[in-house]
Amino acid sequence: MLLFSPNEWADYELIDTGGFEKLERFGDFVLARPEPKAVWKKTLSEKEWTSLMHTRFTTGAGFGKSGKEDSGSWQPIKKMQEQWFIGYRCIGLNMRMRLGLTAFKHVGIFPEQAPNWDYIYSSVKGLNVAEPKVLNLFAYTGGASLAAKAAGADVVHLDSVRQVVSWARENMALSGLNNIRWVVEDALRFVKREAKRGNLYQGIMLDPPAYGHGTDGEKWKLDECLLEMLQYCRQILASENSFLILNLYSNGFSALVADTVIRNVFGKMKEQEYGELFLEDRFEKRLPLSVFARFKR
Ligand SMILES: C[S@@+](CC[C@H](N)C(=O)[O-])C[C@H]1O[C@@H](n2cnc3c(N)ncnc32)[C@H](O)[C@@H]1O
Repeated sequence: MLLFSPNEWADYELIDTGGFEKLERFGDFVLARPEPKAVWKKTLSEKEWTSLMHTRFTTGAGFGKSGKEDSGSWQPIKKMQEQWFIGYRCIGLNMRMRLGLTAFKHVGIFPEQAPNWDYIYSSVKGLNVAEPKVLNLFAYTGGASLAAKAAGADVVHLDSVRQVVSWARENMALSGLNNIRWVVEDALRFVKREAKRGNLYQGIMLDPPAYGHGTDGEKWKLDECLLEMLQYCRQILASENSFLILNLYSNGFSALVADTVIRNVFGKMKEQEYGELFLEDRFEKRLPLSVFARFKR
């Protein structure tokens, strides 16, 4: 079981956690957001939190009911921009992404994903193939797509929401990259079609949500659809010189769930690993945020 959190990152810091909230610095701005997993006490006082933060997200009336935990609004505390930029540098990777305050408490980046970006970058670099084809499913604003592209891959970025695909396109330009192929479609529908066409990829990354929608009203439910999705991924992943990374952040799934379902579909592999991604605050409190299973073959 591996435990990863981002290495030194000048533009991001988890300052404090506790009382079902997290206090984070993204570039020049400090944000307080709800965090259901922070069941412990804050280290800093409420007064210190308020003096540090630029804005705080407060949940709407739907909190705790009917899956609307993420909706609410940002309360302005100090002057800040609604949109701003941060960078991420690691090994040969030099990404720049636009952030923004969204109505669902997200800002356009999941910082705990940085170790996945590093893995994707080094896996693409390590493939013995010129311009390997890499598919990013449920790709959101494109952190993983940028990492694969920066390493020299021919990248297909897929998400069912047009606005986030435009956001990812902006991030590509900001990062000085080009030629990512953008697909706005239901992820399952796309992999089924790729399997039928016999198209093959050297790398696949997928970070599926608990619930989602395709472009044509297709319903994505993680527990019901994950196995089928991975079975199609198996058909379109090259049998050698390839890698896959599955990230899960919902349904309370543990790293062993990710590892077992991958073994179940792909068989046992030498270079298979699984673990948890976490962020650590200034006071060494560790906040787990997602799990992954990955392999190279
Ligand atoms: C939380 S995000 C994944 C985060 C991303 N991997 C990252 O780290 O930036 C989940 C994404 O899945 C997309 N999505 C949900 N249902 C989908 C579907 N049926 N087909 C394709 N994308 C879908 C959502 O639009 C959202 O952008």
